[in-house]
Amino acid sequence: MTALADAGWLNPLIGLLQGVQLGLLRLLAWLGLAGSSHGQPAWPWPLRLSGENLLIDLGQARRLALTLLVLSLVVLLLLGALVWRRRRWLLLGSVPLLLVLAPWPQAEVVLVPAYPTSFHRSPTGFSAASIAQGRALYAQHCVGCHGADGRGQGPLAAAQAVWPPNLAGPLLWRRADGDLLWHVLHGTKDRHGATTMPAFDRLADAEAWALIDFMKAQGAGQSLRATGVWSQPIGLPEVIVRCEGREPRPLSTWRGQRLRIVAAGSAAALPEDPRVVTVQLRPAASAAQPHVADCVADSPAAWEAFALIAGTDQLGGTQLLADRDGWLRARSAPGKAGWSEDDLLCRTAAGPGSAQDDPPPADGLGALIARMDAEPVRFLKGGFVH
Ligand code: HEC
Repeated sequence: MTALADAGWLNPLIGLLQGVQLGLLRLLAWLGLAGSSHGQPAWPWPLRLSGENLLIDLGQARRLALTLLVLSLVVLLLLGALVWRRRRWLLLGSVPLLLVLAPWPQAEVVLVPAYPTSFHRSPTGFSAASIAQGRALYAQHCVGCHGADGRGQGPLAAAQAVWPPNLAGPLLWRRADGDLLWHVLHGTKDRHGATTMPAFDRLADAEAWALIDFMKAQGAGQSLRATGVWSQPIGLPEVIVRCEGREPRPLSTWRGQRLRIVAAGSAAALPEDPRVVTVQLRPAASAAQPHVADCVADSPAAWEAFALIAGTDQLGGTQLLADRDGWLRARSAPGKAGWSEDDLLCRTAAGPGSAQDDPPPADGLGALIARMDAEPVRFLKGGFVH
C-alpha cells in the first residue's frame, strides 16, 4: 500500500475508469440494451478495464494516465480543427503523431476478462445477518476444500487439481465483488478450460453474496490472528442498535462519526467520551452484563460477526474503534486500561509523524484518533474506490 499512498493520482484515475464503465453500463441498462444477470444489469463485453491490475503495476498505470491525457488533447485538437479553419490541416496533422507518441499501456494489463456480473454491487450491506447466513452455508458447502479457517487446508484440498487459495490473504480484496460472485456461482476454470472449482449454481444470489460477506469477515479475523493486524481494511458489519428512548437504528447511520464498540464482559464502567460514539455489544438481549453505554446492539448475529472479525472466541471485554468512514481501525484487548497507538490494526502508508505540526494529544485515545484521522483508508478494491 506504500506505493499507493505515494501515487495520489492513482485513486482518481481508477475512480474515473470505474465511473466511466459503470456509467456506460447504466446508460445501456437505461436504454434497455443491457441484459440482466443475477438480478442486476449485465456487463455485455468479455473484457473490462482493470483497476486491480493498475494498483499493482504502477508503471502501466502511469502510461495509461499519460495516454488518457494525450487522448484528451487529441479531442481538443479535433474540436479546434472544426472551428479554426486556417490551421485545420496543422491541427489534424498532429493527431496521428500524438497517437503514435502516446505511451500506450499493455493491453493485457489494462484489460482483463470480465463476467456479466463484474460490476455488480453487493445488496447485503455487509449485515451481521448476512454474515451469519454465509457462515452456515460455508460450513455446508465450502469447508471441505477451503478449510474451517478459510486457509485452503480442507480435507479435500489435496485432491484438487489446483490448491484452494488462502481466503485470509489479499485475494478477496483484489477481486471485484462481482467477479467473486461469478466464481462462486459458476465455478472457476484454468487456462485450458478445465474446472478448478465446481460451480454452486443452485445457490440463490443472496446466498452467494452472504458467502462473500462471511469470507471477508472470517478473512479479517484470520489475518488478525496470523499477523496481529488487519492486513486488508475491513468495514463495520451492519447491526441494529437501540439507544435509550429512541427508535432502533442501523450502525451505519453514524457514518461520519468515530465509533467505539465495547463487547460486554469487562465489569469496569466506561465513561462516555465526546470523541467517540459508544455502542455496547451484548451476546443476547437477555445477557446479564450491566449497560455501559446508552446504545446497545444485542443480537447474537452481531456478537458473532464482531467475534469473527476480531478473530476470537473470547470477544467479551474487547473494544474496537472505527473511523469516520466506517472502517474498523483499532482493537483494545479485554482488561486493558487505555488505548495507545499500538492498538491501530489497520494502518495506511503514512507513518507516524504525519501530524507533527499538531499539538501532542493528551492521552492514548487522542493519539490513536489523531493517527486514524491523519491516515484515512484509501484502499481500492477491484477498482472500486471506497
Ligand atoms: C471441491 C473443492 C472446492 C469446494 C467445495 C469449494 N471450492 Fe472454492 N476453490 C477451490 C479451488 C481449487 C479454488 C482455486 C481455483 C483457481 O484458482 O482456479 C477455489 C477458489 C475459490 C475462490 C477464489 C476465486 C477467485 O476469484 O480466484 C473463492 C472466493 C471460493 N473458492 C469460494 C468458495 C465458496 C464460497 C465455496 C462454497 C460455496 C467453495 N469455494 C467451495 C475449490 C473448492
